[in-house]
Amino acid sequence: MNIELCKIIDLPKIQDARGNLTFIEGGGHIPFDIQRVYYLYDVPGGAERGGHAHKGLSQLIIAMSGSFDIVLDDGWNKKRVHLNRSYNGLYVTPMIWRELDNFSSGSVCMVLASNRYDEDDYYRDYQEFLIAKGFV
Ligand code: TYD
Repeated sequence: MNIELCKIIDLPKIQDARGNLTFIEGGGHIPFDIQRVYYLYDVPGGAERGGHAHKGLSQLIIAMSGSFDIVLDDGWNKKRVHLNRSYNGLYVTPMIWRELDNFSSGSVCMVLASNRYDEDDYYRDYQEFLIAKGFV
């Protein structure tokens, strides 16, 4: 998988004077069925999250509140994506190294995932990731 396949997905946005509404249906608006949702919050200034890749997991990452950056790395190219809209999601395919940083104060990062949590699905060592990608 390369980072060109990781893209911003524009989610439906129902605009209303009472406030906006966005919805996501697994397999419809995003290319996988949702098995798990998790979120990062109370992230201290300067903190970095991520720092791993997944073997088989697909994810959609959304800035529900505030903003942060995601650095995507397929072993060949790197791309920094700034997320700051709750109606945008970054689709991240399997086999992409990702790091999250530049969290604004009070930001909330929600992640929709294609599978339940499985530590065996992680590459947490960058060298090991590069070997798996065939770069080393
Ligand atoms: P990790 O995936 O390393 O966090 P991040 O990539 O967002 O920085 O997970 C941190 C810890 O939380 C780790 O001990 C595994 C645990 N965890 C779960 O138990 N379930 C989950 O769904 C997730 C994402 C993490």
